[in-house]
This record gives sequence, C-alpha cells and structure tokens, in this order.
Amino acid sequence: MKIAMLGSGFIARFYADSLIGHRRIDKLHAVYSRNIEKARTFATDYGLPVYSDSLEEVVNNPEVNVVVISLPNDLHLAAVEACAKAGKHVLCTKPLGRTAAEAKQMLDMVEKAGIMGGYLEDLCYTPKFSKSLASVKGGSLGRILWAKSREAHPGPHSNWFWNKEQSGGGAIVDLGCHCIEIARNYIGKDVRPVEVMCWAATQVHPIDAEDNAIGMVKYANGAIGQFEVSWCFRGGMDLRDEVMGTEGTIWINNFLRTGFDMFSTGKEGGYVAEKAESNTGWLFPVGDEVNELGYNHMFTDMFEAIEQNRDPFETFYDGYVVNAIIDAAYASAKSGLWEPVEIDDWRGRTDDNHGAKFAEFDEQYYLIKEEILPHGERKLILKDKKTGEVIVRDL
Ligand SMILES: NC(=O)c1ccc[n+]([C@@H]2O[C@H](COP(=O)([O-])OP(=O)(O)OC[C@H]3O[C@@H](n4cnc5c(N)ncnc54)[C@H](O)[C@@H]3O)[C@@H](O)[C@H]2O)c1
Repeated sequence: MKIAMLGSGFIARFYADSLIGHRRIDKLHAVYSRNIEKARTFATDYGLPVYSDSLEEVVNNPEVNVVVISLPNDLHLAAVEACAKAGKHVLCTKPLGRTAAEAKQMLDMVEKAGIMGGYLEDLCYTPKFSKSLASVKGGSLGRILWAKSREAHPGPHSNWFWNKEQSGGGAIVDLGCHCIEIARNYIGKDVRPVEVMCWAATQVHPIDAEDNAIGMVKYANGAIGQFEVSWCFRGGMDLRDEVMGTEGTIWINNFLRTGFDMFSTGKEGGYVAEKAESNTGWLFPVGDEVNELGYNHMFTDMFEAIEQNRDPFETFYDGYVVNAIIDAAYASAKSGLWEPVEIDDWRGRTDDNHGAKFAEFDEQYYLIKEEILPHGERKLILKDKKTGEVIVRDL
C-alpha cells in the first residue's frame, strides 16, 4: 500500500520512523504540510516522491491508498472528511476528536464511505501492554476490579496544544485519551463506561485549560478505570499502568526506570528520550522508542486489517467512546458530580453487573480470606450465606 502523511511535525516523524524503520511492503509516498518548505524537507528526509502544500492534492493522489492524519486536533474532522470523499482508508492519531460529537461525525463518515478508520492509539500496542492484556484476557488476574493509567510530563511541544480551541482542552484530552483507552482495554471494551468523576485544575501554566487532572470512570460491571494526567510533572515522561484483579496484579513502567540507567556529565550528546528534561546526571533512556511506544505493532495491525478486510484492534469507534468519556470528565470537573457517559451508539454488552460474584467456600459459606500468620498458623475467614455471620476457622 502507498501512504500519504498529513502533517510533518512531531508525530508525523515518529510515524515515519516506524513506517520506514523496517523492510515494510507499505511505503510512505506523499506528504502534505501547509508550509511547502517543511513538506519538501520531510519528503527529502524520508525519501518520498510526492510533497505538497495542498491537502486535497495529497489525499487524491491516485497512487495513495491509505492516509495517516498527523495534524492538530481541530483539523482531524476536515481531514477525515477529505479521505471519506476520496474513498481512501484513514488512520488518525489520537484524540480522534476534540469532542464525542466530532468523533461521531468521523465515525459516521468512514462507515458511510466503506473505508477503514484506524485509531492510532499507540499505547495500546506497546509490547508490555500487549503481553499484559493477553494475560488478563487469559484470566491470569481473575475479574478485573481496577485499572489505572498515568501519563505525566512537563507539557507539550507546540503552541496549538496550549490553545483550548484548537486542542479541545488540556491534559485530559491530550493525555487522558491514552489512559482511558488503556484502562478500558483491561476492563473490557464490551463493558459500558457509565459515569465519570473528575478533578481538574490549572496549577502552573497561564492557559484556559487544565494542566493537571485525576478521573475515575465507572463501568457497568462495577470495575473502575482511573486516569492521572499532568502537564506539570518534572523529570521526563512518566507512563505507568496498574491493573488489579481478584487473582492478581500487574504494574507496568513504560518509560522512566525501564532498566536502562545511564550517567553523563552532559559535555557532549543530546537527545535522551521523548520529553526528557536533561541530558546530564543520571538518565533513563529508552532503547527503541518507536518500538517501545507501540508504533511498529500499531502500523502492522492497521495495514494487516486493511488487507484482511477486518477491523484493526483500535478503531474509530474506540476513539469515539474515548471522546465520550472525556466529555463526561470535563462535565464532572465543572459540576463536581458524577456525570453520565453519553454514547448514542453503544455496541457492547447491555447486561449490567456481569461477572460480579463472591468466592464460594461450600454450600453454607462464602470465603472472605485465607490468612497465614507469622508463626505459621493458618485460618479461614468465612461468611454464612444465610445468617450473614462472619466466623474464623483455624486450619
Ligand atoms: N503518542 C501519540 O499518539 C501522539 C503524540 C504526539 C502527538 N499526537 C497527536 O498528533 C497530532 C499532531 O501533533 P504533533 O505533536 O505532531 O504536533 P506538531 O505541532 O509537532 O505538528 C503538527 C503538524 O500540523 C501542522 N499544522 C499546524 N497547524 C496547522 C494548520 N492550521 N493547518 C495545517 N497544518 C497545520 C504543522 O505544521 C505540523 O506539520 C495531534 O492530534 C496530537 O494529539 C499523538
């Protein structure tokens, strides 16, 4: 397949590094940038035959089959519209829209046009995430009760992120979209997100949006998703996930402290890792960022999905659900109340409380806890199903 890149900034280059990093059969063919010089530089750097400052020209290039959107958030809708009109498969970076209403329009457009809409949620493709998710799906953690994801760094690298009109908000829409989708995957994409409680504040930067936030997303089966996001965190990019189930726990550190520690006086050398604030002292580089951040696995899935005429692992529908949760988070941050997640077009399970049950001990009792004490004594704490009495039984 031949690919067109819309945008030539930060994420376009990460994507291009991934797309040309291996001997792929899919080729970057054309790039659009509003600044023709930047388009030319990008085309030269990555060996693309076509560059232009006209989005329509690039999308409608007859050799292009797939379009990758790497533009600011306020431009995603118009770019998807151009792809739908041209009948070209479209892969859009996160967040899909600034709001669920925008995301829904994009979803409707691709479905109507019969093209694939892939949601480029790279953090749901990292090697650690994929392995842990397979383990969770295999039942190793039992029933998932709580999934927490944190993304925090010192703030984005371009002016438009800091403009609420263009970005759609602050750290919640920018970083929360990753965290929400990570937790949603662990809890189950077919489980309906019901309500959100969110605290958000502007603590450091002179902007109209939040630079710090914490939110809880309540799911129909009783599980809770938690997101922690910050544009105020100092010391690099903190990407951590925690999952807790009835039978186990997972802790993942994706970026800082990954087992690669380095010291440098900083006299020479430069780039360490995305959002690293320093190149002196003890440093935590990331071995292969493009791979560790999931870009390789993400594009492999996207192109295979097109070939196999199936949905990719992350679709425009997922992007829409994430936007709906974000809308509820903003409503909650404003009202101070739990706010409902409005999804017009819910496609998952509709039976609530599925999977919630207590551990059986025998006909008469539930098992609350088995305990081994420091001196080796063992005891069971049991609850009588009929009377409700809680008893202890020594073993
Ligand atoms: N991990 C990720 O998935 C990830 C990481 C960073 C950014 N993103 C997303 O990628 C998108 C782009 O972010 P970025 O970090 O590359 O930003 P950036 O500012 O580095 O690049 C944006 C690109 O869009 C172009 N652009 C800006 N304003 C424009 C306008 N008015 N008209 C036409 N072109 C315009 C810029 O020239 C540049 O080529 C955003 O949606 C962002 O949320 C995703």
